[in-house]
Amino acid sequence: MDPALAKTYKPEDACFNYTQRDAIIYALGVGAELKDDLKFLYENHDDFQVLPTYVVAPGLTANCITSCPGIEFDLARILHGEQYIEVYEPLPADAELRTECRIVDVLDKGSGALILSNLTTYDNNSGKKLCMQQFATFQVGSGKFGGDKTCPAEKKCVPIPDRAPDAIVEQKTSVDQAAIYRMSGDLNPLHVDPMFAKMSGFKQPILHGLCTMGFSTRHVLKTFANNDVSKFKAIKVRFSSPVIPGQTLVTEMWHEGTRIHFQTKVKETGKVVISNGHMDLTDASQQNTEAKSCGVELRSQAIFDTIAEELPKQKGIVQRVKGIIVYDITKNGKHVHHFTLDLMNGNGAVYKGEPKNAATANATVVVDDDDFMKLSAGELDSTKAYMTGKLKVKGNVMMLQKLQGLMGGLRKSKL
Ligand SMILES: *[C@@H]1O[C@H](CO)[C@@H](O)[C@H](O)[C@H]1NC(C)=O
Ligand SMILES: *[C@@H]1O[C@H](CO)[C@@H](O)[C@H](O)[C@H]1NC(C)=O
Ligand SMILES: *[C@@H]1O[C@H](CO)[C@@H](O)[C@H](O)[C@H]1NC(C)=O
Repeated sequence: MDPALAKTYKPEDACFNYTQRDAIIYALGVGAELKDDLKFLYENHDDFQVLPTYVVAPGLTANCITSCPGIEFDLARILHGEQYIEVYEPLPADAELRTECRIVDVLDKGSGALILSNLTTYDNNSGKKLCMQQFATFQVGSGKFGGDKTCPAEKKCVPIPDRAPDAIVEQKTSVDQAAIYRMSGDLNPLHVDPMFAKMSGFKQPILHGLCTMGFSTRHVLKTFANNDVSKFKAIKVRFSSPVIPGQTLVTEMWHEGTRIHFQTKVKETGKVVISNGHMDLTDASQQNTEAKSCGVELRSQAIFDTIAEELPKQKGIVQRVKGIIVYDITKNGKHVHHFTLDLMNGNGAVYKGEPKNAATANATVVVDDDDFMKLSAGELDSTKAYMTGKLKVKGNVMMLQKLQGLMGGLRKSKL
């Protein structure tokens, strides 16, 4: 490794053209789903947008570390260490791009060499500078060449806050995630070829670090930017451990003004795979609070309010039911609130939270907020909901049959 020589390298700028189709393939590669992310997946959408992290595709094409004098490159010993991206304006739906590559430094980390390269991308049509990114590529076993350990131009990670996250988003990757993701340009066989993965020291092919970064980017944008890419300014991540396609990614986020700190874990192992990440937004408000366990607007709250009003009119219901029902209301598969319907004591009561006075529930109903709304409105049949798993009941199922009268009364009164 010869950092001084590498820094003088000025290769020709690399051209990269893309269309909406390419942007959609990238969005699929990083787990975009029709239910939440239609605008990233459908070119005729009113508000079709390109995910800002798609710039890694032109970046990779242009990354000149493979051909740079002064760098002895070996694909089989390469790991993506860190990534920094700064985007100056939303990416066009189609574009012709030109990307300049410069080697910032080759750092000597002992166990390997950390190659820092800056990639600056311009839109050929408008002439505007679209984005800048810094790749930090680690080459195992190439250290101890007497180079510097750090460099002032290195974009650094920032430690995450020392408190519980403000929001969490969880998403399972597909076992074929890497196969889809590589169609956006990173064809390294490490991600699909079992033989090559073994040769590189892995038991099986691993997911691209940049693919995990794409998932996390979506999770943060969805939670704090209402999925509006024009609010994205910059992101920095460190890839601390590999992900196996099929594992579940959990993005934990901390809201600090316009900076969202985050880390990403694998649910199945608890391992942190993106550490000390952050995203800077032009303005950050928590639009999507579904992942939070407090302050969530529940549609079912209105139903319980109505039940509270209806209860005194339902003479004899306590004598009929003689039990306590706890409703475990979920949203997107995550628990958000408990409501207790006490039809055992006094004239009955309904309140938020688990049963008071150390009482235990005779039956617990687990149901999604929206489904509970539909059930109460009579739009969803309870037996059908039960059979299809939308309504889960633990405990005394038969007792719930006695609630029919109450629900019928509700429908007549308000819903
Ligand atoms: C990009 O498109 C331009 C204009 O059609 C063309 O001249 C150029 O060769 C294309 N570049 C690549 C890398 O496909
Ligand atoms: C690389 O980018 C960093 C951060 O923007 C900057 O400080 C540095 O001067 C750049 N170096 C080169 C060689 O482009
Ligand atoms: C509910 O549980 C209580 C004890 O926790 C019991 O006394 C009551 O009979 C039960 N009600 C029904 C309907 O099973």
